[in-house]
Amino acid sequence: MAAVRDLKAGETAGPGDDDAVELAKRHLIQPWPYAGSVGSEARALIGKGDGIYITDNTGKRLIDGPAGMWCVNVGHRREELARVMYDQAMALSYNTPWYTMNAPSAELAKRIAGHAPGDLSHVFYTTGGSSAVETALRFMQFYNNVRGRPEKKLILSRGGAYHGSTYLSASLNGRPRDRDWMDGADDVVVKLSSPDPFRRPQGMSLAAFTDFLVDQFRDTVARVGADRIGAFVGEPVQASGGVVVPPDGYLKCIREICRDNDILYVSDEVVTGFGRLGHVFASGDVFGIDPDMITFAKGVTSGYFPLGGVIISERLLEELRRSNHPDAMFGHGLTYTSHPVGCAVALKNLDLLEESVLAHAQAVSPYFQAQLKTLEELPLVGEVRGVGLMGCVECVADRESKDPLQLDKNVGKRIDAHCHELGLLVRPLINMCVMSPPLIITREQIDDMVGILREGISRTMDDLRKEGVWRG
Ligand SMILES: Cc1ncc(COP(=O)(O)O)c(C=O)c1O
Repeated sequence: MAAVRDLKAGETAGPGDDDAVELAKRHLIQPWPYAGSVGSEARALIGKGDGIYITDNTGKRLIDGPAGMWCVNVGHRREELARVMYDQAMALSYNTPWYTMNAPSAELAKRIAGHAPGDLSHVFYTTGGSSAVETALRFMQFYNNVRGRPEKKLILSRGGAYHGSTYLSASLNGRPRDRDWMDGADDVVVKLSSPDPFRRPQGMSLAAFTDFLVDQFRDTVARVGADRIGAFVGEPVQASGGVVVPPDGYLKCIREICRDNDILYVSDEVVTGFGRLGHVFASGDVFGIDPDMITFAKGVTSGYFPLGGVIISERLLEELRRSNHPDAMFGHGLTYTSHPVGCAVALKNLDLLEESVLAHAQAVSPYFQAQLKTLEELPLVGEVRGVGLMGCVECVADRESKDPLQLDKNVGKRIDAHCHELGLLVRPLINMCVMSPPLIITREQIDDMVGILREGISRTMDDLRKEGVWRG
C-alpha cells in the first residue's frame, strides 16, 4: 500500500503558502463573503492537523476550538480513517446509486438505524447537512402528495435556527443577519421564537418561558391550521445560533403537539449527532424524543469526507408502500448519494466512537462545562452555557440589560484574534464565541483552552476600554 505522505509542521499538501494566499485572492470565493471583499480575500491558511491541533502557515500550533465546523469529532490525522478511505477508493471509488449499490452504505445504514430512537429504520444519504435538511423537506412534500394532502406543506422553524445554505434549508434559518441580503421561500415557512432562555423576557421564570414557547407553538398550529403544516424542523440544541440549550421538557411538548396534529418532527442533528453530546444521537438519549426524521452530517465522518443523510421512520415508509399510488416516484437523488468512500470512512469513524470516544466525551463534558463556566467571572461575559462538548461564551455590554448591541459587534472576532495569537482557534459569532473541540480533548487540554480564552477575553476588555467602546 502506498504510504500517506507525512507533512512537516506548517507544510501544506498543495502549492506554497505565498502562492496559496495569492491564488485565493485571485480565484477563490470563500463561504459567507461580504460584497466588498468577495473573491479577493485570503483567510488564515492551515497546513496541518493532528489530534485537537491545527497548524497555520506561520508554523503556529492552535487548539482547534470549533473542531473545524463542529465536525472533526475523533480528531485530526487519524490514520485508521485515512487508510480506510484509501482502501475503499482502491476497491471501489464510486458506483452509481441510480441503479447499483455498494455494501458500505447498507452496513452503515443498519448501524445508524441501530443508534436512532423510535422506529427510525432507513437512511437516505446526502452530501452534507443542507442537502440532508432539503431531502427531509422534499420527502415530507412527497409523502403528503402521495397521501392526497397537497396543501399540507408549510414548515415551522424558529428564530436562532441554522439549517443550511440551499434555498429551502436556508429559508428556515433564523439567525440575525443570515437573510438580510438573501431571498428565501418565505411563503412556505412559518417562524416561531427561539427557545433561548438567556434572551427570555426579563423577570419571566424558566417554567413560564417554557409555557410561553409551547403555547406559541400550539396557537400557531391552531391559527395556521394543522391541515396546512407538513413539518417542524428544529435542532435539539441550536448550534450556530449560539449553543441555545432549550428549557427542560420543551422539546417533549413540541414533539407531542406535532404527533397530535400529524406534523412531521424533523430533528436536525447535523451538529448534535455523532458524539457531540456523548451519544450517537441526542434526540432520544439526551432529550427523550422520537422524531419522524433525523438529519445528520459533519461528525458522521468526523469531517474526513462530505457525507450527510436523513433517517426516516418505518411508519412513514410503510404508509407510502401501502398507499394508493405505488407508482408515485420520490424524484430525488444526488450523484454522491450512498458514496462508498464516505460510507466506509463513516463506518470506521463509528467504530472509534463506539469503542471509546463516546465514553470519553461523556466523561470530560462536565469538566469542560465547569471550566468554561468560570469565564462568567469576567465582566464582559453575560453568560456561559452549553451541554456535552459544545459551549458558548456570550458577551454583553451590560449584564443588567444583557444588551449586546451597544457593544462593538465584532467582539467575538476580537477575542478570536487574541486567542489565535495565544494558540487557540475560536468560532466567533457576533458577540459570542462558540467552542466545540474534538471529542478526544483531555482535561489538561481543556485547561489550556479555557486559559487562553480567558486571556483573549481579558485582552479584548482592555482594548474596548482603551477605545472607549465599553466601560465595564
Ligand atoms: C444544524 C445544522 N444543520 C444543517 C447545517 C448545514 O450543513 P452543511 O454545511 O453540511 O450543508 C448545519 C451547518 O452548520 C447545521 O449546523
